[in-house]
Amino acid sequence: MISLPYLAIACLSSVAAHWVTVTVDASKSLGPLPQTSRFFGCDEPNEATQLNGSALIKELGELGPSQTYFRTHNLLTTGDGSPRLKWGSTNAYTEDGAGNPIYNWTVIDNIFDTYLERNVKPYAQIGFMPKALSTNPDPYEFYFDETLSYNVIFTGWSYPPKSYQKWAELVYQWVKHSVERYGAEEVNSWYWEVWNEPNIPYFNGTEYDFLILHDFAVDAVRRALSTARIGGPEIAGGGTGTSGDYLRQFLQHTVDGQNAATGQIGTELDFISFHAKGSPIYINATAATPEHLQMNVSAALQNARDAFNVIKEFPTLDHLPVIIGEDDPDGCAACASPAYGYRNGIVFPSYTAESFVRQLDLAAEYGIDLQGTLTWAFEYDGRKYFDGLRVLTTNGIDKPILNIFRMFGKMTGNRVQARSSAQLALQDVVANSVQNATDVGVLASSDESSGKVAVMIWHYHDDDLPKPDAQIEVDVHGLTKNCKSVKLTHYRIDDNHSNSYTTWLEMGSPQQPTTEQYETLRTAGQLQTVSRAKRVRVTGGELRVSLSLPIHGTSLLVFEQ
Ligand SMILES: *[C@@H]1O[C@H](CO)[C@@H](O)[C@H](O)[C@H]1NC(C)=O
Ligand SMILES: *[C@@H]1O[C@H](CO)[C@@H](O)[C@H](O)[C@H]1NC(C)=O
Ligand SMILES: *[C@@H]1O[C@H](CO)[C@@H](O)[C@H](O)[C@H]1NC(C)=O
Ligand SMILES: *[C@@H]1O[C@H](CO)[C@@H](O)[C@H](O)[C@H]1NC(C)=O
Ligand SMILES: *[C@@H]1O[C@H](CO)[C@@H](O)[C@H](O)[C@H]1NC(C)=O
Ligand SMILES: *[C@@H]1O[C@H](CO)[C@@H](O)[C@H](O)[C@H]1NC(C)=O
Ligand SMILES: *[C@@H]1O[C@H](CO)[C@@H](O)[C@H](O)[C@H]1NC(C)=O
Repeated sequence: MISLPYLAIACLSSVAAHWVTVTVDASKSLGPLPQTSRFFGCDEPNEATQLNGSALIKELGELGPSQTYFRTHNLLTTGDGSPRLKWGSTNAYTEDGAGNPIYNWTVIDNIFDTYLERNVKPYAQIGFMPKALSTNPDPYEFYFDETLSYNVIFTGWSYPPKSYQKWAELVYQWVKHSVERYGAEEVNSWYWEVWNEPNIPYFNGTEYDFLILHDFAVDAVRRALSTARIGGPEIAGGGTGTSGDYLRQFLQHTVDGQNAATGQIGTELDFISFHAKGSPIYINATAATPEHLQMNVSAALQNARDAFNVIKEFPTLDHLPVIIGEDDPDGCAACASPAYGYRNGIVFPSYTAESFVRQLDLAAEYGIDLQGTLTWAFEYDGRKYFDGLRVLTTNGIDKPILNIFRMFGKMTGNRVQARSSAQLALQDVVANSVQNATDVGVLASSDESSGKVAVMIWHYHDDDLPKPDAQIEVDVHGLTKNCKSVKLTHYRIDDNHSNSYTTWLEMGSPQQPTTEQYETLRTAGQLQTVSRAKRVRVTGGELRVSLSLPIHGTSLLVFEQ
């Protein structure tokens, strides 16, 4: 799906310019800016050890300044370790003819070494079920591509173990091995969690079965390393309907249920995790609008709100850190559809700014310590350029989405007060998404140690349709009174900046770019500025700059001494 940003511009010629004032007070701290965007993941663990995959891991490790974490499925899945869509394996556990366990950590070690050598730490997922432990092992391997139904993937790996003792011993041996290889201090800095989305067919068992699986795994992790950080339950969806009951029953069990592994009351959790997904659709042409895709950010925000509501029912748990362990515009990275046409261009980064910052605001309203909003996107080898899957890079070219994480990485220190005259009310976006007026959002930070103030501004609407640019006046107050001027660096993601996709379209969409074209695309994939850095006058601790921000564009203004 190719988006045509100026398709209907003629229809909009009578629309007035959109005037916006953004006001930042650099002296009004709201506390440390949570660095939630530094979490990534994918289904396919083995991509990370390939050439292009390890290069991308390195880029994620360089986003800084806070630590990057990576979550992946299939770390315990049986197979030869070759990457494939929605599949991966490590052969960590097999059994000999007499049913005795054989552990082999070679492939897992390779994957985690690849992360750690590139400044990325595991958010280690304990799953899926090795073939030798599955209660229903056949069929086990599957083949998936984006033309097939998602359901083909649910095979032998998704079943409970035939022996919880063997399952527990596998987990114990894995964590013990990790401590031996990397040291307790290193492994203490990881996150561990059990399985993925046990409330949908990823786990072919009841919630009661999952609680047993979880209790045995948590106990095994803690026996191997008592100070390890472990949480869950990584359910699909937040907290309404069946997923709400699932989360509630899970949390209730951890508070006062009988632990299946220890026989004691309760299961100690270090963090709570769930998943949040938007819900884009493709809309046919009407008399008023051409055909286009329409995002739905409220779906993901409602997942977060609903889960927060459930967590707040548990006063002994509501102080725990929360991680949205998958947090995406839609539910399937390896699927393609016209509604997923947002993934190549600038709708994806602006949506990500909108949803991640709104989730932070929502967490603040609930008094929840949100630590992570994890993007489920990595890269796939051997695919066409800009094939439309949810990936961060395509054949080694960084897509615009990666640059929103580079922007977040430049925001350090405290979050400071910032307002936009065109920012929709939080409750309005949660309830109605952004389908009427556009939302001009702002997030600002001030780092006292470096004297740096950063202001991110995004111009978002669910519809991938042309809209007038926002004409924005940015007033920054609360700078040091005796300061005469600051250096401004203006980073930008739009159709002409930090955008390998539009560059590739302008080249005629080559599937075999020349060496020169390839280098041009690589450069276009990096975070770019709109102009050279310049000095801006400061009077009485205040400065003012103006800018014009296209729809789905994002600006990051960095002010330094
Ligand atoms: C462990 O797995 C690796 C990678 O698949 C393989 O090369 C090696 O032979 C295995 N080790 C043993 C002892 O089987
Ligand atoms: C779960 O397991 C049952 C019994 O093996 C099977 O009939 C069913 O199709 C499985 N569910 C899914 C979603 O694969
Ligand atoms: C758009 O039209 C197609 C073909 O007529 C139809 O199958 C599809 O459901 C329509 N989409 C929407 C969102 O109405
Ligand atoms: C957006 O998602 C929410 C939650 O799933 C749903 O209630 C709402 O109808 C969706 N909005 C649109 C326009 O599809
Ligand atoms: C990795 O990216 C390069 C470009 O750097 C591309 O030519 C190659 O096909 C990719 N490798 C695979 C296995 O897709
Ligand atoms: C849509 O937005 C306009 C302002 O842009 C506002 O006047 C109107 O009330 C909004 N309509 C709805 C249904 O929210
Ligand atoms: C991109 O550049 C073209 C040509 O220079 C210009 O017409 C267009 O307005 C620019 N678009 C943006 C979003 O800056």
